[in-house]
Amino acid sequence: MALVNGNFAKLKESYLFSDIAARVKAFTEAHPDKKLIKMGIGDVTLPLAPSVVEAMTKAVQEMGHKETFRGYGPEQGYEFLHEAIAKYYARHGVELETKEIFVSDGAKSDCGNITDLFDDSNVILVPDPVYPVYVDTNVMRDRKILYMNGTPENDFLPMPDPAVKADIIYLCSPNNPTGAAYNKEQLKAWVDYALKNDAIILYDAAYEAFITNPEMPRSIYTIPGAKDCAIEFCSFSKTAGFTGTRCGYTVVPLQLTRKSPEGNEMSLNKMWLRRQTTKFNGVNYIVQRGAEAAMSPVGEKECGDMLAYYRENARMMMETFDKKGYKYYGGVYSPYVWVKCPNGMGSWEYFDHLLNDLAIVGTPGAGFGTMGEGYLRLSAFGTHEGTKEAMERIEKDNI
Ligand code: MLT
Repeated sequence: MALVNGNFAKLKESYLFSDIAARVKAFTEAHPDKKLIKMGIGDVTLPLAPSVVEAMTKAVQEMGHKETFRGYGPEQGYEFLHEAIAKYYARHGVELETKEIFVSDGAKSDCGNITDLFDDSNVILVPDPVYPVYVDTNVMRDRKILYMNGTPENDFLPMPDPAVKADIIYLCSPNNPTGAAYNKEQLKAWVDYALKNDAIILYDAAYEAFITNPEMPRSIYTIPGAKDCAIEFCSFSKTAGFTGTRCGYTVVPLQLTRKSPEGNEMSLNKMWLRRQTTKFNGVNYIVQRGAEAAMSPVGEKECGDMLAYYRENARMMMETFDKKGYKYYGGVYSPYVWVKCPNGMGSWEYFDHLLNDLAIVGTPGAGFGTMGEGYLRLSAFGTHEGTKEAMERIEKDNI
């Protein structure tokens, strides 16, 4: 008799963004005349950068000719993309070896798949509120999960508690959903904690490109000792508009090792290579050429202009909330503005109000954890026109 993984019964019925999509679909079906402004899921709206399109077009042509056609590529990505990523990191002050870089279809997949490398006895520490993938993928393995609260008092940046013993720590900075970003001292405290406890930090840097202040860390590897305790996930989705194109990468330092329950010292880099070569067949050549172009100095400049466009949306949002006297977080090093729901409303209550009365889609903070209750996340990845109109609607809202 086949038995299924009963841990799935411990998950919520549906994934947060699928749940919201279903509510939005019901709303648009009931009100086809209303102009809905989507500021929910962090999905980009600007087209791919010109140099990315050019590189991908050239790659399509190569695939159409016998002499330049390519079949299976290396599961961990082509060397040309590793080199482009290593150079991008070097421009931002981090030296990586190309063997430390693994290309994938995105940070979400890798954040989930990385659970394969760790024994189920590990104690997991996650911030609350948090990107639901970290929690759900560990619930699927029935692992013990501890939460550390993100609150207005700690600016939604929980710090290590020496009394808490955790083995695997998830950090996301700039944070999804709150938009808060750790500075170097704060990140150093986490690296020190991980080294002291032989723990591993799983560092999600998907939003690093939103950091404009050179004093703020864009990679955990800017912190001494991080290569002995951290794996970093990153993505072209938010940096280069690849949400539909799909490409990301994970950095697993060559020197990173931990013991197995049998007492064998094992290389995480070798384990991840083994995992990927077994379960993954790589990202397609065309997309990897596009990603390489996005990492080139010209591509980085073009993508930088896209990020500036989204930052302007965030600025418009913050301006409106200032006028309304709403408390908010994020928006500075992040495409997300994390706003305190007005009049003591609950997250879903304010979500419903925005949807039904103002035709604006947000993401209820409660969907990211119990500490997100009473907050709502708005994404700055929309158009200027849409954001402006949404802010006008909020400004006129009589609550
Ligand atoms: C979000 O809206 O939180 C993100 O777009 C989800 C993701 O990156 O998977």
